[in-house]
Amino acid sequence: MSSAPLSSLDSIPDPHADPQADPIDRDPWHPHRATITRIDRELDTPTSSVFTLELRLEPSPYADAYRFSPGQFNMLLLPGSGEVAISHSGPPIDRALGTASPGVVESGTFESCTFLHTIRAVGRVTNALEKLRVGDGLGVRGPYGTSWPMQQLIGQDVLLLSGGLGMAPLRPVVYAIGSRRDDFGRVDLLYGSRSPETILYAAELDAWKRADIGVETIVDHAQDPLVENSPCKPTWTGPVGNVTHLLNRRSSLLDYPDFRPERTQVLLCGPEIMMHRCAQSARKLGIPASSIWLSMERNMQCGVGYCGHCQWGPLFLCKDGPVVPYDLAETLLEIKDL
Ligand SMILES: Cc1cc2nc3c(=O)[nH]c(=O)nc-3n(C[C@H](O)[C@H](O)[C@H](O)COP(=O)(O)OP(=O)(O)OC[C@H]3O[C@@H](n4cnc5c(N)ncnc54)[C@H](O)[C@@H]3O)c2cc1C
Ligand code: FES
Repeated sequence: MSSAPLSSLDSIPDPHADPQADPIDRDPWHPHRATITRIDRELDTPTSSVFTLELRLEPSPYADAYRFSPGQFNMLLLPGSGEVAISHSGPPIDRALGTASPGVVESGTFESCTFLHTIRAVGRVTNALEKLRVGDGLGVRGPYGTSWPMQQLIGQDVLLLSGGLGMAPLRPVVYAIGSRRDDFGRVDLLYGSRSPETILYAAELDAWKRADIGVETIVDHAQDPLVENSPCKPTWTGPVGNVTHLLNRRSSLLDYPDFRPERTQVLLCGPEIMMHRCAQSARKLGIPASSIWLSMERNMQCGVGYCGHCQWGPLFLCKDGPVVPYDLAETLLEIKDL
């Protein structure tokens, strides 16, 4: 977590501060070449196209030193199309084995030059990224931004609340917790999706349950209303509603006798309205504002605090966020269209 939440001119890094430094390292706009080593189709519905790229940085001092913390993002550059901010969406991949290697170091960061990004194709750059194939290259700058407060989660109960693609930036947290499960108290993931067919990483949810992570899913609609003659059979037997509903159930001592708001940390990622409502519900349940964390999204261009595109009130979300504590975000969330 960045220790200085507010932006100021003083905190903007000076690329010329160290004349001895490698010019590449001094230039925050310098992208580093990465190769696509694997592509997984995550969702392929008529309304949602989501895929995961496994990227390997080409050998370089940057690649050797690359490490990231859950919650951080990279700027992915596709020359001719543009650049987009995309969160880390998984554990690092073991270079030799090509498999997930949690490898969380003491500080709560992952070390690896091979990592995952889950992307929804929505526009110019993401549609172009979707057309890439294994072996193709792209540029990477990062990792940028604040991370989930991994150190603060140790010894605590953890509630992960995710809506839609918000599951992607939370997935590295699930892996990090899973790799050191005994260090945490009760851990639950409450995951809301538009319909059963848009549940992301559905194949992994059972494995997470086996790793002693409680998983509850809820859908807005048992059948996708955006799809005419939806192929989704109405076989959903789970709850229908929004994720706030799953959270509010914690108020029942009968159903959740061991729910302890004073020692629960809440991590929220999803549409802004969902995070706002969940944070309000969490407060009503007695969870302190300082124990609630949100991942905020705004249009990003430079990613390093220069351009101001990501400004949200006094915050530059590329460096003061995306992960923001609710005690800082609460008043900003009340301001319409900020
Ligand atoms: C910190 C941060 C982390 C992010 N992490 C991820 C991630 O892990 N995976 C991911 O897929 N995206 C992520 N995003 C969002 C991603 O950056 C945007 O979707 C992307 O910039 C869109 O670029 P484009 O050129 O493809 O679309 P554009 O051409 O810029 O937009 C096309 C249309 O899509 C709409 N649109 C743009 N973004 C979204 C969106 N997120 N959802 C729905 N509609 C949208 C626009 O309003 C516009 O109408 C993140 C954004 C931020 C700020
Ligand atoms: S994206 Fe440029 S200041 Fe944040």
